[in-house]
Amino acid sequence: MNNMYGNRLNGKKHGDVFTSPNITKYMLDLSEYTSDRDLSSITVIEPSCGEGEFVLEIIYRLSQSAKKYKFNLNEAIKRCLVCFDIDEAKIEKCIHKIHKFDPTIELDTCTFRLEDFLLADVEKADLIIGNPPYVRQEQIPKSKKDIYRQLFFTFRHRADLYIPFFEKSLSLLKPRGKHCFICSNRWLKNQYGYNLRNMISSTFDLRVIVNLEKFNPFQEEVIAYPAISLITNNPAGDTFRYIDVENLDSLSFPHVFDGEEHKMPHNGDWYDTFNVISNHLKLTSIEELGFKIGIGVATGADKIFIGKHLIDSVEEDLLLPILISKDIKNNNLKWSGNYLFNPFDKDGNIIDLSMYPKARAYMELHKERLQNRHVSRKNPTYWYRTIDKVYKHLLFQPKILLPDISANNQILIDAGHFYPHHNLYYITGGDIDNLKILSAFLMSDFIVSQLSRLSNNMNGGYPRWQSQYIKKLKVPNIYDINESDSKMLISFYDAKNLPGINSIVNKIIA
Ligand SMILES: C[S@@+](CC[C@H](N)C(=O)[O-])C[C@H]1O[C@@H](n2cnc3c(N)ncnc32)[C@H](O)[C@@H]1O
Repeated sequence: MNNMYGNRLNGKKHGDVFTSPNITKYMLDLSEYTSDRDLSSITVIEPSCGEGEFVLEIIYRLSQSAKKYKFNLNEAIKRCLVCFDIDEAKIEKCIHKIHKFDPTIELDTCTFRLEDFLLADVEKADLIIGNPPYVRQEQIPKSKKDIYRQLFFTFRHRADLYIPFFEKSLSLLKPRGKHCFICSNRWLKNQYGYNLRNMISSTFDLRVIVNLEKFNPFQEEVIAYPAISLITNNPAGDTFRYIDVENLDSLSFPHVFDGEEHKMPHNGDWYDTFNVISNHLKLTSIEELGFKIGIGVATGADKIFIGKHLIDSVEEDLLLPILISKDIKNNNLKWSGNYLFNPFDKDGNIIDLSMYPKARAYMELHKERLQNRHVSRKNPTYWYRTIDKVYKHLLFQPKILLPDISANNQILIDAGHFYPHHNLYYITGGDIDNLKILSAFLMSDFIVSQLSRLSNNMNGGYPRWQSQYIKKLKVPNIYDINESDSKMLISFYDAKNLPGINSIVNKIIA
């Protein structure tokens, strides 16, 4: 179970982004879990503890409180703390860190539960705090998705995994209990967050939103538009506070209560509230929005690595359906049936050819030609590799396809069936709806005129999509666009209705 959702492009697992220590401290302060208080009876759940960023600080605070209020730390941990994760190695690391902090601490399987939190039987608690996994729908195994859909009414549309983590943990709060999560702020406005927002508006009290999207609170560079939310199990209030954190220094408790007070929406329609709050249109780059711009694989010997003939020549599990620029013609995507021979395994290591007799015989036939490539001369052992590494999971990711020289004025999306060849640029990062909205922008006059200024080189009136230019394009934050404009952009994109797209884009940028 410990790699249920697969790896990201950087090799790390989907859903694994660890919180910085100053953020965990801040969130515990915000939740009033402070060591000057008697914490001996405050029950706490960490639903996805990872290597223990929150757990360590919780135990540290509990130990300080135990000294001050003279209670037994081990008994308090047993009584009050429950942590979940599906990754045994992470739990072990977490336990190791706790024992490094204090070797006398006793931990058992009631404190650390190697279980899927969403399916676990859990007792209610006073504080539920953490950084739930962010895993997009397409990364969640189907069998799990089906079960989550049955269990969680918030797990609808393209909801990310963190959404049912909210639903389950909110429903586990004791009266007056506190819920503090750090995660992507997308649920505050987008369509898939609607049911969750409705649930919060009708049954809970949203106290604070701390918007952290201007700096990175995680232990690695990810752009996840993070926000901290503090929600309590009290009757819904009329207002909540919102603070936009500009830099780390301003992130200190109780500074948050300087945040502006806003009227709490009484159903799931929070868009207007948050659109007014974020005071709208700032243009940004596509990468700043969290999308990744890439170019397909270069092989150094396309006739050997790519073709229909490979079906008969190499083992099937080494083949990936590949899209070449010719497959995108006249605004249509039509796969011509070519496959790429992928010499990398799922972890990105070059395969051992001796394990694949057909591929070995085929590659040996072309050995001399392949050895003549610069990439093989640099590393003769792996003479059968492609120039670029092949990341198999890219195949399954929805992607916008941008042929460099194209007679296409429409931007196409592959839902996750093909690997791109070197003459195709691609954009990944959002779900299909987000990619459609971005594509609509890319097709609009607003972007085409930017591109023509940037590249100074239009191809018979059509844009040249090259990453150096794509990276410089400026778009509005597509996650700030209100629901009705987003829906219109998606449907105009589907209908390839350019005047429609231009009318909405012009309205947004007006
Ligand atoms: C974003 S990381 C956060 C880790 C830690 N709480 C922190 O803030 O540093 C998410 C964690 O969720 C775990 N996880 C993923 N799916 C889970 C599930 N269904 N139940 C419990 N834990 C899960 C992952 O193994 C990972 O350790």
